[in-house]
Amino acid sequence: MVDVHTHILPGIDDGSSSVEESIALLNEQKKQGVQRIMLTPHFYPDREKPEKFLARRQRAYEKIKNAVDGVQLRLAAEVRFSQLLTKIDLEPLAFEGSDYILIELSSRRIPYRLDEVLFDIQSRGYVPILPHVERCVYFRKDPQMLLQLIENGVLCQANAEYVLDNTYKSFIKAALKHNFYQLLASDAHNMTVRPPYLQSGYAALEKMLGKEKREIFQKNALSVWNNEEIDRPQPTPIKKFFNKYI
Ligand SMILES: [Fe+2]
Repeated sequence: MVDVHTHILPGIDDGSSSVEESIALLNEQKKQGVQRIMLTPHFYPDREKPEKFLARRQRAYEKIKNAVDGVQLRLAAEVRFSQLLTKIDLEPLAFEGSDYILIELSSRRIPYRLDEVLFDIQSRGYVPILPHVERCVYFRKDPQMLLQLIENGVLCQANAEYVLDNTYKSFIKAALKHNFYQLLASDAHNMTVRPPYLQSGYAALEKMLGKEKREIFQKNALSVWNNEEIDRPQPTPIKKFFNKYI
């Protein structure tokens, strides 16, 4: 399996706080059958210069790069949406060796100039992946808004933890059925509150939608790793009925 969203690098963000914790996370991933891991620490363009972040990321990476055998690691980032993204070199922030890039949106407010900045990123040859869109209150309120972004070529990634629990169950179920999502990832932060759940997340996804869908999602994650095009069936509109999504 491939995990495209993790906070395993030590001491760089709100993820792993030590080398020991990073090693425990890597061993847990390995136990679950995850052999390829994108390291995606948070990067906030409004708060830190890219060069400074990249130097911090490299230092954290040096500490764990050879720590666990049998797990392949690559550098990337979970890039917070910002107007500054139009002016920043995205190559070192995108998935290493790939044109895919993780762009995190605010969960509370629609970012200003969202369409324009995403279009700018795409016109520079990158494919934005929006992580955990289920968290975004404005997408849950108006799924059509998200549908439009997907139709424009943006990808969506669900968090394994939310496929497993009931927080956003109705939305996630409908969004999966309507082909809003193409990827599942752990977004693992630590071994206690937010451990890696990729194996059980995929099992829950299979239970919801069948084995074929699970296989497509797993293949998509591998395609992202290999910088290949992913399977992207046509999304269809979600209907909202009070607090239920159909
Ligand atoms: Fe994350």
